[in-house]
Amino acid sequence: MTELKVSSDTSVFEVPAVLDENGKLSPQCARQALTMMDAHGLVILTGLLSDPETRVGLDLMRQTIDDPERSQCAFASETDNRYLRRDFCSLPSTPLVTSFAATLCQRLEDVFLEYCGRSRPVLEVATFTSYLGSSHQYIHRDPSGVISLFAAVEDVSEQQGGTVFVPGTHLYGGSGNRHGGQADALMELFRTRCNYRIFWHNLKKLWRMRRNEAAALAPGEFMDRVFSTKWDQHQPNLLRFVLGKNSQFSLRKLGPRTLWKLYRHRDALDSLFNLVQTAPRKGTVILYRSDLLHAGPDNRSPDPRRFFGMSIARDVLETKFWHDGYSPHPTLMAHPTSLGDLLESPPLCAPHSVPNPQQTALAG
Ligand SMILES: [Fe+2]
Repeated sequence: MTELKVSSDTSVFEVPAVLDENGKLSPQCARQALTMMDAHGLVILTGLLSDPETRVGLDLMRQTIDDPERSQCAFASETDNRYLRRDFCSLPSTPLVTSFAATLCQRLEDVFLEYCGRSRPVLEVATFTSYLGSSHQYIHRDPSGVISLFAAVEDVSEQQGGTVFVPGTHLYGGSGNRHGGQADALMELFRTRCNYRIFWHNLKKLWRMRRNEAAALAPGEFMDRVFSTKWDQHQPNLLRFVLGKNSQFSLRKLGPRTLWKLYRHRDALDSLFNLVQTAPRKGTVILYRSDLLHAGPDNRSPDPRRFFGMSIARDVLETKFWHDGYSPHPTLMAHPTSLGDLLESPPLCAPHSVPNPQQTALAG
């Protein structure tokens, strides 16, 4: 039960991006993307951004990360943020950031508009960087009713650890009726089994890091990640695990009845669900329904893993609920932006928008 099995074959979920004469996804490509999102909860659009566009994205992310006054995200492994294992920060609503976000929204307009009305708020525009020694997040669902996007602005290798998804575990009306009416219970069991393995993976890794010069532990880091009383849902914190203080995974999830069900349904879990790890090439954009089971894995390479991220609500959202799951930059809170605003904002200017050869413009 201790080995986390992850497939790196994402070909089933990929759709090559084809743009029309207006620079939007062609109608056929948008339809394919929507079918994929509805069936599996995610779509991986390859070649959506050109090389000059990814350079713009990478530059604006680097500028933010280099800024000592940057606004770090208030969720998703604060301890990793504190010890510079991760650097998750929201991006300010500057003209360049807005243009980059607008380019993505306009290119994906037909997909976004299928789920989100024009008045729906942009919840977050952010950059997610993970370094060697970060922890593997537990498998979780983000707050429901949101469409989230990750854009790869440089190649992400398997070792760097692109996002892990459990395809087909998104929620919708009647989704619990799948698998003989046991879908919700089986998905939760699968999540528990994965998180048990992630818990051990993180603990073993931290133990090895005590003697690892490449990812040497900072003073106090081991204690903060394993025995701290501080809130952090993605560390293998034994204290909070035993006290049941971690809502993602704790001893409470491993009662005798659950252990028996994990044993009894082990074959069904193996056949129904699998973990798929993305390793997107530069220019690839991943869209997923926020309630799809997923996790940001640990970076096992010396090269930082960077993603641009953006989330747009599908419905009205209560503010506390929003801020519990997303970290809007103060400039975004001061000047709320909707999907419609981004669809009408100037995209990146022409020299950056020259499509690469894969992005064949379709006439008519
Ligand atoms: Fe998440």
